Amino acid sequence: MRSFIDNVDFFKGNDPEKIAEKYGTPLYVYNEDIIRDRMTKAANVITKYPYKANYSCKTNTNLEILKIALSVGVNADAMSEGEIRMLLKAGFSPDRIFYVCNNVSAQEMKYALDNGIQVSLDSLDQLRLFGEINRGGSCAVRINPGVGAGHHEKVVTAGKKTKFGIAEEDIDRIFDVAGEYDLKIAGINQHVGSQFLDPSPFLAAVDNLLRIAMKFKKLEFIDFGGGYGIPYHKLDDEQEFDMEHFSKEFTEKLDRFVNEYGSNPLFKSEPGRYCVAEGGVILGRVHSIKQNSGIKYVGTDVGMNVLVRPSMYDSWHDIEVLSNGKVVDRTEGKMEKVTVCGNICESGDVLCKDRELPIIKDNDLICVLDAGAYGYSMCSSYNTRLRPAEVMICSDGSVKLIRRRETFEDMFALYE
Ligand code: LLP
Repeated sequence: MRSFIDNVDFFKGNDPEKIAEKYGTPLYVYNEDIIRDRMTKAANVITKYPYKANYSCKTNTNLEILKIALSVGVNADAMSEGEIRMLLKAGFSPDRIFYVCNNVSAQEMKYALDNGIQVSLDSLDQLRLFGEINRGGSCAVRINPGVGAGHHEKVVTAGKKTKFGIAEEDIDRIFDVAGEYDLKIAGINQHVGSQFLDPSPFLAAVDNLLRIAMKFKKLEFIDFGGGYGIPYHKLDDEQEFDMEHFSKEFTEKLDRFVNEYGSNPLFKSEPGRYCVAEGGVILGRVHSIKQNSGIKYVGTDVGMNVLVRPSMYDSWHDIEVLSNGKVVDRTEGKMEKVTVCGNICESGDVLCKDRELPIIKDNDLICVLDAGAYGYSMCSSYNTRLRPAEVMICSDGSVKLIRRRETFEDMFALYE
């Protein structure tokens, strides 16, 4: 693919250079149409049975994006009190929020309960704590299905080497604790990991969870978690996750289960990245170009504080180069190998290493693709840098500031 942003008209006719001048860089820019499209696809993975996709909002909790999720009709999962608060603020009713927590205090659990939000417990200790504060209540338990998957060991959330979920061998103890506190186990959930384009590990985990579900009586829901991947190498023509094929295989597994189980729990999933990653880019400014020991370094303002994924997981993000607001052609112009880095005081502050890119000039813009998921939500103020602004290219083509840039006053306010 020559250019993703031109192909999909990401900026909808707006000049990215003007957007960058108006709002400053680094800048997160989202495209409403793409986010709506992906959320709608995620919402319709299963159509034969009662099914609900929970948008996993840890990927991006910008209020405007949560409002898109709300209007598309997906529900949401939250991992913290902060995420619950954001979802409530966006207008999600408590019954549309699933709190999939991990190692939380009684106080945080109580916050969810007081707001009427369904909680999933991910250890026997947390189940006991839940029982202490909500005897006779209803909850879900997170099972570790013994199968994991993901783009990096740090994002594999099931299997033998992860802190998440209750192991299958402890299932009888779930029933013991539930009995002790008179708890109803209304649902079971899992999450195997993140960013797979090959659905096989997910489907294997579906089989596993459905087998485990047989041990639970009268489940109201079964939640299979998220993880659907996106093509981070789209400029090299990497293909999209094959939703249609996945959906067919997933449904066949549910067919077999429904026959055997005798009743029809609500099926759920928790896609995050798939919903928002491709709908977000980062515009960054090139401030310096130099050679160090034969390596050409392109210095930008997109530091690891703005996008941590490359330094944290060695993640690949395609980069397009914009000169005077126009994409510099990757197929016609000259290319050269460069290392693109940020402005943070760490050698690991590198967006990409030895990457073939069109010739970049000082003051050009770089456009980092697929930054809508785990981008802003993981950014920090390291080196006492300000968190960037976020703008939305709305469906009608207008450009809307959806979160202003942090200010030094915001930082100092914590000390007052
Ligand atoms: N449900 C649970 C319980 C999760 O822990 C996660 C992600 C999701 C759903 C959504 O997974 P997704 O559909 O987005 O793959 N920061 C890493 C990814 C960490 C994922 C953590 N859990 C990254 O930037 O790749």
